[in-house]
Amino acid sequence: MHILVTGGTGYIGSHTCVALQQAGHSVVVADNLSNSKKETIDQIKKITGSRPGFYKIDCTRETAVDRVFSEHHFDGVIHFAGLKAVGESVEKPLKYYYNNTLSTMMLIDACRRYDVKRFVFSSSATVYGENRAPLVETMPLLPATNPYGETKAISERILSDCAAVNPGWSVALLRYFNPVGAHESALIGEAPSGIPNNLMPYVTKVARGKLKKLSIFGNDYPTADGTGVRDYVHVCDLAEGHVAALNKLTRGVHIYNLGTGRGTSVLELVRAFEEATGVKIKYQVAPRRQGDVAECYADASKAKKEMGWQAKRGLAEMCLSAWQFEKNYGQ
Ligand code: NAD
Ligand code: UD1
Repeated sequence: MHILVTGGTGYIGSHTCVALQQAGHSVVVADNLSNSKKETIDQIKKITGSRPGFYKIDCTRETAVDRVFSEHHFDGVIHFAGLKAVGESVEKPLKYYYNNTLSTMMLIDACRRYDVKRFVFSSSATVYGENRAPLVETMPLLPATNPYGETKAISERILSDCAAVNPGWSVALLRYFNPVGAHESALIGEAPSGIPNNLMPYVTKVARGKLKKLSIFGNDYPTADGTGVRDYVHVCDLAEGHVAALNKLTRGVHIYNLGTGRGTSVLELVRAFEEATGVKIKYQVAPRRQGDVAECYADASKAKKEMGWQAKRGLAEMCLSAWQFEKNYGQ
């Protein structure tokens, strides 16, 4: 298949380009480079031997999106392009609603005009709000605690409503849990600018001595060791989930959790990192972070049953690959 990957120079998008090419698909990337670098295209070529097409465009711009569609005949779109900083979305809600929902609408409209019938969307477990884990696709969505989460819930609704009036369409709404790790080549990975907000990139920066110590946000949650529990999933497993979705998609709208189905606490992750890399992580316990839930992990059985997808890589591989990428490319 010939696939448009928006946000394809970003963290999850770049790993998915690799997985798509390695599965025999051809890839065109559209990214405005607001949170990534064009050199990622070279890195993808180094891994797969094949250079994806690239357009530096903003997916909220109708004419730019139209140009890309007019120059290709796509079999499907995977829409990763979006802003994802939860804290910034609280401070600048309009920036998030504008970018994330308008880009989705522009792409849906282009698919309608150019008769592209497969659409895979990057959603997030954040749409479950305060539902209790294990989280199942059939649960009613609860309001997200921030505008970022709302943009995902709204985009899911827009896609569902549009698919309902375009009967030939196949749409996958993929709800990611906590993607971590990097490609085994250590050529692509997660490279956040500034001080990371998320746990794994923070841990790798502490390991490298770039940050003094990790603050563990709360040790009084109702969990086995009192620290927050999440479902960490290797980014390469996640990438393969997109290939499975493209291959197995049938008509209609299908929602899939992409997670391992296993919860890991902050302390467990720190210990797994230390064991996998041999590097000690200094930490202190700090107050809870506003908006955090105690536990968030997937019921991952639907993706396995319907798409034959299941996460294969364990915590040690997630930690080691994240560490290798940080040593190679961390700033
Ligand atoms: P990322 O920031 O690394 O990648 C997103 C890419 O989209 C970037 O390269 C950025 O330059 C590009 N982009 C943003 N707005 C654009 C626009 N208007 N036009 C063109 N390009 C644009 O983030 P990621 O971690 O790879 O996330 C990919 C998608 O998955 C996002 O939609 C994100 O919300 C979603 N998601 C991520 C996580 C996570 O933990 N990383 C979890 C759940 C969902
Ligand atoms: C966060 C976002 C979520 C988003 C996801 C994707 C919030 C509230 N949630 O999820 O909407 O979809 O990222 O990237 O921001 N932790 C520490 N110390 C740290 C960092 C994190 O103890 O320095 C803890 C957190 O309290 C949590 C766990 O580590 O228990 C994971 O945190 P994080 O990596 O930020 O992911 P989420 O909060 O699950």
